[in-house]
Amino acid sequence: MAKAIEKQELTEVSEAQIAVHWKEEDYYQPSEKFKAQANMRDARILEKFSLERFPDCFKEYADQLTWFEPYRTVLDTSDAPFWKWFVGGKINASYNCVDRHLAKYGNKAAFIFVPEPEKEPDVAISYQELYARVNELAALLRGLGLKAGDRVTFHMPMVPELPITMLACARLGIIHSQVFGGFSGQACGSRIQDSGSRVLVTMDSYWRNGALVDHKANADIAVRTAKELGQDVDKVLVWQRYPGKYSAKTPMVPGRDFFVNDLLKEYQGKKVEPVALPSEGPLFLMYSSGTTGKPKGAQHSIAGYLAYVAATSKWILDIHPDDIYWCMADIGWITGHSYIVYGPLANAATSVLYEGVPTFPDAGRPWRIAERLGVNIFHTAPTAIRMLRKLGPQEPRKYNYQFKSMTTVGEPIEPEAWRWYYDEVGKREAVITDTWWMTETGGFLGTTVPAIQPMKPGSCGPGAPGIHPVIYDETGAEVPKGSGRAGNICIRNPWPGIMQTIWGDRDRYVKTYFAKYNKNPRSKDWRDWPFMCGDGAVQAADGYYRVLGRIDDVINVAGHRLGTKEIESACLTVPEVAEAAVVPVQDELKGRVPEVYIAVKPGVQPSQDVIDRVIKANEEVIGKIARPKHVYIVPDMPKTRSGKIMRRVLAAISNRRDVGDVTTLANPDVVEQIRTMVQGKETVTKQGALPEDIAKFGEVE
Ligand code: WTA
Repeated sequence: MAKAIEKQELTEVSEAQIAVHWKEEDYYQPSEKFKAQANMRDARILEKFSLERFPDCFKEYADQLTWFEPYRTVLDTSDAPFWKWFVGGKINASYNCVDRHLAKYGNKAAFIFVPEPEKEPDVAISYQELYARVNELAALLRGLGLKAGDRVTFHMPMVPELPITMLACARLGIIHSQVFGGFSGQACGSRIQDSGSRVLVTMDSYWRNGALVDHKANADIAVRTAKELGQDVDKVLVWQRYPGKYSAKTPMVPGRDFFVNDLLKEYQGKKVEPVALPSEGPLFLMYSSGTTGKPKGAQHSIAGYLAYVAATSKWILDIHPDDIYWCMADIGWITGHSYIVYGPLANAATSVLYEGVPTFPDAGRPWRIAERLGVNIFHTAPTAIRMLRKLGPQEPRKYNYQFKSMTTVGEPIEPEAWRWYYDEVGKREAVITDTWWMTETGGFLGTTVPAIQPMKPGSCGPGAPGIHPVIYDETGAEVPKGSGRAGNICIRNPWPGIMQTIWGDRDRYVKTYFAKYNKNPRSKDWRDWPFMCGDGAVQAADGYYRVLGRIDDVINVAGHRLGTKEIESACLTVPEVAEAAVVPVQDELKGRVPEVYIAVKPGVQPSQDVIDRVIKANEEVIGKIARPKHVYIVPDMPKTRSGKIMRRVLAAISNRRDVGDVTTLANPDVVEQIRTMVQGKETVTKQGALPEDIAKFGEVE
């Protein structure tokens, strides 16, 4: 794999070419009012976190936490590149997010849950109540025989029971693995198998877009899938959306399925001492897509991870304990783990948790919630911003809320959408941090420090404090800033939030993130191990980065990472399908959406029925988010003479771009046939360069 990537040629994009669709933007300054109250106002911060001061500068991050036993070594590199942070320390994440706040903030809300149905009241959960509920659940989990190091999979919606279960696991050192609630039962099952979980925690139902979804049905599929793959699940713990009542139609399986609320009766008022765990014990797994069809479980540590998300929540999101903070992401993704649960709670924040769809029942919903709850920090993804802008461009004006700070995450944001966010949502007062990072990195990599560095629409900013990015070309040479050339963005140094490994696959960890630019696999010096993020980027002369998108075969759909190989394998589960190729297509709202090309087996007639079943297969194997925008049945795939499918050609067709020279293909004629099928007889080629991630799509094999 790593070898193949080496062969790949990076397109050299000149600044002029990029400017065709994205020109240099002017700076926006934070207001004096924001600066006066910001947690991080010390302009020397970047100097304090310079590479010369690495790794000791990160002691300040560890100081955000309460330790049972102090650590001895800041960074242990003896098993490079498997970094160990704050070694020798003993700590507990649940204690740091709950217990230590009781004295001062016991009566303050830790979470405010907002149900999707507007007639249902908000539910505020104080730190004191959170403490009680986390303890009772921890006692229950311990009662089931679960202990430190065991894995438990969750398939939970956006309800307070999700962070409660996370924190109960963390209290005991159980490694939690939350699978995004919108993923299918099958997707959950394969993740159960990979993590080796024997317990699945789920909920009977939840509200989504006005409907009460039967979610328990997915648990049955997940358990069956895991079993087929060789992993038995002994117990399914089912939370009830309405405690005491079963809101799903799918029957409970006797002896396997239990209502958590029934089991909890035995544990009322029980307390569980938070276990003093080693710093480098694993806290959770978060599965994410990569180049191959098999999702990888990013394993995150207790101390390094928690220190990193605590410090960045304080300095970048600017969370103070008296703020009302709302991140509209889903806890099922890394953003929710780091910046709804662990980071905010480590700072004694009040974190708002919204169950449903941002535009339900209308595009004014988020602003009504913000007004009612007095939200002053808001965090969301470009897809939601585009959607809210399209459906209700003037809605924010109707509501009397005031944000001091706003964040965007998950995808590049176009300057136009950025400006709407700034002008309309932020009412020209809130600062914006465009935070670039990924599942693997635990927390922010690229962002401005909001009171210190100005904002620039479309650029995330420079590296976060202590993060030292570098852009390498294919030969490993540094691409200088201001050159206008794109390359592979890497981080020169380790940082506390970096994942520890891919669960159960050390080799894949080294190959995926380090092999390409490491020159000495035996080196114990961190300087020899730049971390390859998997994104293409350019750095402007001012040092700000513009992230162009994934360089692997991952499609970022509405901020969610989907592996094209996973989608293609889902298509191949339909027996009539002989070959499948998936390509990313630009989409006004979702950023990118997948389009599918299939060739059917000899003797099979192309039909709408096959197309429908391909769509259904994607929903079943992955989830509704993987639903292709179009499925085209083609007479043959465009192929090289050696038989490789030219996904790049298909991507050009789907994105209405010139396919380039195809005369060297084995079957050049088919290209025009496919083009007519997709675009019609008239040539509808658009002008302007393709975005980097699409232009380079399909080069990694
Ligand atoms: C993309 C989400 C541009 C990027 C936290 C990355 C971004 C992938 C930004 C990770 C941003 C994330 N600007 N692109 N501010 N933030 N990305 O693992 O391509 O779900 O590699 O983590 O999202 O997605 P993931």
